[in-house]
Amino acid sequence: MSKKSPAPDSTASSLTPSSNKMSEEGYLHGYSTIEQDRLKYQAQFTEQTIYGNLDLSGINELLEVGVGVGAQSEIILRRFPHIKITGIDQSDTQLGAARKFLESKSYAKDRFDLKQMDATNMDFESLMFDGAFICWVLEHVPSPERVLSEVRRVLKKGAKVYITEVMNHSFFLEPYSPNLWKYWMAMNDYQHEQTGDPFVGAKLGNLLLAQGYQDIHTQVKTWHFDNRQPEQRKRYIEFWTQILLSAKDQLLKANYIDQETLTMAQEELKQVAKDPNAVFYFSFMQAQGVR
Ligand SMILES: C[S@@+](CC[C@H](N)C(=O)[O-])C[C@H]1O[C@@H](n2cnc3c(N)ncnc32)[C@H](O)[C@@H]1O
Repeated sequence: MSKKSPAPDSTASSLTPSSNKMSEEGYLHGYSTIEQDRLKYQAQFTEQTIYGNLDLSGINELLEVGVGVGAQSEIILRRFPHIKITGIDQSDTQLGAARKFLESKSYAKDRFDLKQMDATNMDFESLMFDGAFICWVLEHVPSPERVLSEVRRVLKKGAKVYITEVMNHSFFLEPYSPNLWKYWMAMNDYQHEQTGDPFVGAKLGNLLLAQGYQDIHTQVKTWHFDNRQPEQRKRYIEFWTQILLSAKDQLLKANYIDQETLTMAQEELKQVAKDPNAVFYFSFMQAQGVR
């Protein structure tokens, strides 16, 4: 499906409550409490892979872009006790949940500041932060270039941006499940149509280079589970089922899938979970660049 052309003015105006509500309405995963809980589960479930070789220990003032419900912030504050996070998100709903979540953690006390802000048009002065962290956000924005340009503007010279992003083309599930693939492609189409990019991970090197970042590193991380790790495979199929279903309401509402496809896809997922020769495969990208 063709991608709508980015509308620069609409991103800037999404700071106003009414247009912000519009952006909340179209958002692929929605902002329900089920989704808020899913984000927390997702962050903890993937913590080892995402943070395994992520060293933020040299950073004091960290900007987190698209903070959501604070699920990544919680991990960062726990792992790096000297960091202070300034977290931004376009959604007041998410920020409210993030505030509540982080206030419940003693180690987060006085170490976070959350602001509603559009990542493509930030209110910050230039050269403010020692580092920036962006996880599962660039896939949802109409112009990842603008986000990376804004991030570069607010980073101090020599500071780094750390990005984690999807590569949805890499997803594979055995046995073959035709309705599930229909559903998955509908999910990618919808995200694309909402001016997001479900394949953005593979492009991070180019995007960082184009915005003038230096010393750029990219690393593909893969979850690949088969008969050698049946328990891990089971857990990842369950985890993936949650991700897939998080989009079902938006996809049904926008007529990207019908109820029958959804029901059949759910049935196929159950079959895959039971199959003795099932395979789960997904890769994503982690990238860094220096300002
Ligand atoms: C999938 S969630 C990820 C949240 C968090 N980074 C995590 O990993 O748990 C994406 C978040 O990006 C936010 N977002 C999307 N576009 C944005 C924009 N232009 N400016 C600020 N936040 C944005 C959404 O509101 C949502 O909370």
